[in-house]
Amino acid sequence: MCGIVGAVSERDVQGILLEGLRRLEYRGYDSAGMAVIDGDHQVQRARELGKVAALSDAIDANPLDGQLGIAHTRWATHGEPSQLNAHPHMSGDRLAIVHNGIIENYQDLREELKADGFTFTSQTDTEVVAHLIEKNYRAVGDLYDAVKAAITRLRGAYALAVIHADEPDHMVVCREGSPLVVGVGIGENFIASDQLALLPVTDRFMFLEEGDIADIRKEKVSIHDREGTPVERKITRFEHGADSVDKGEYRHFMLKEIYEQPRVVKATMEGRLTDSSVLEQALGTDAADLLENVRHVQIIACGTSYHAGMVARYWIEELAGVPCSVEVASEYRYRKHVIQPDTLFLCISQSGETADTLAALRQAKEAGFRAALAICNVPGSSLVRESDLVIMTQAGPEIGVASTKAFTTQLTALLIFTLALARHNGLAPEKEAEIVKAIHLVPGQVNDVLALDGEIEELSKAFMDKNHSLFLGRGSQFPVAMEGALKLKEISYIHAEAYPAGELKHGPLALVDSEMPVVTVAPNNDLVEKLKSNLEEVRARGGELFVFADKEAGVKSEEGIHVMQIPSVHEITAPIVYTVPLQLLSYHVAVLKGTDVDQPRNLAKSVTVE
Ligand code: G6P
Repeated sequence: MCGIVGAVSERDVQGILLEGLRRLEYRGYDSAGMAVIDGDHQVQRARELGKVAALSDAIDANPLDGQLGIAHTRWATHGEPSQLNAHPHMSGDRLAIVHNGIIENYQDLREELKADGFTFTSQTDTEVVAHLIEKNYRAVGDLYDAVKAAITRLRGAYALAVIHADEPDHMVVCREGSPLVVGVGIGENFIASDQLALLPVTDRFMFLEEGDIADIRKEKVSIHDREGTPVERKITRFEHGADSVDKGEYRHFMLKEIYEQPRVVKATMEGRLTDSSVLEQALGTDAADLLENVRHVQIIACGTSYHAGMVARYWIEELAGVPCSVEVASEYRYRKHVIQPDTLFLCISQSGETADTLAALRQAKEAGFRAALAICNVPGSSLVRESDLVIMTQAGPEIGVASTKAFTTQLTALLIFTLALARHNGLAPEKEAEIVKAIHLVPGQVNDVLALDGEIEELSKAFMDKNHSLFLGRGSQFPVAMEGALKLKEISYIHAEAYPAGELKHGPLALVDSEMPVVTVAPNNDLVEKLKSNLEEVRARGGELFVFADKEAGVKSEEGIHVMQIPSVHEITAPIVYTVPLQLLSYHVAVLKGTDVDQPRNLAKSVTVE
């Protein structure tokens, strides 16, 4: 998804902007560009199709010296990926703009601006905004006022940063529906769509709120809210060390993040559990009152976070006895729903900026839910700021587009939440203690699974030349199978489908032959005997099986069945542990296939547009 960086300083900003763009690469993009205002008060611009490295080469050849600049990585929405469509966009040769988001009424504005004599050089919605601001600038002669007037005409989502050569000492930025953060320096200030971009230059951030417009100068940041009232936004310090965004000894961020799971799962438990119970107050001072009155839970999320929600449904209904519905945000937000009384609206999101999830939350706040709870990994994100109650996961920055540690920490947080809810709904203290003890064992069990990495790498060779695969699971392992299939398709580009194992004979069995590897997760629970029958169904059709099974489950390797024995785990915590071998499997298949593991084609880390 698009990324924005901007800087105003005493020093040349091109190095800061380039490094910022590199740190935004993980969001996914197809082109990159930069504009600065030079010492002669001219806008200098470079734009390149492809990676930030290409832009860096272009800038090495023709440096963009200047102390005020903006830069952008683009993920095409309107118009193909090309140099002409790359940002920054200009109106004339004095005004430059970068934009993240989508302007829905850009066609009408484009016609209007063409009639006013503006010439368009790209197919983007962003260029419309550039001309609209320039039109206002000609009328009012002040960049801040021009931006303020222009945005009243925009419908859609945007984070914007604008510079003008006639006002070379500041930039004007604003946000509506897309994230934007101000990085506070000493004698210099910065902006970005994600604080990670600015970690080399500051650890102090102000998060702009919806409708804010800000004037960013070297010595001063002034912010006004939507009504035009001057506002202060709190400065917060970035909590994780700047080096947490380096790959360290690992070949890819994804592998590093898989290996971080024992630590970050533990961090997500910390302060929230005693040896044998959940510390409900740790979920927030209002948590007890709220949980006492919840009669139904509606979970909303996208992608991997949706799979976490699907696992949680099994837990919530089993342990708390509270009905739970789960839906992807992009569907939920566009249909009519019946809201049960006392329903808790629960959003799960790694980034806290996913457009569909935020839109669903905003609707929900109007719709009469009891309260909105967020499970999120990014402090200060829109989701966190707009929810009534928040449980932060402690995964730290996740850079690999394919989500790994965010998922297992979401599951950890969701299980803790479930136990707190269950306590208000009659869960016996002994059962709570049994599960809390099982949660404490998870980091060690994940470590045990990581020790199987070499064997899983060996297994992965069988997938290299395959085009399709099937993932099976039963009960709470069905969403784990879905997550395993998502990982494989995201990074290895092998078609992977997940089915509840019991549905096998209602269709997918027709596809099974020696070219269709079938992956199954089989913890030792009540369903394992049924699962074994499903495995037989596959074997009888010549299908090759890859089974991740509890060592007590009685599933043995033989002709056509490769069994990877997983240490015994509690049935409730099994989804967390069984996710890890599937992550490793996908990772190794992708490495063997030579794909771009951390930035798979066509995907973005944070989907901040619809
Ligand atoms: C994108 C990412 C996924 C992520 C999904 C939801 O598709 O590539 O990894 O699961 O968005 O993101 P969120 O930040 O809301 O969890």
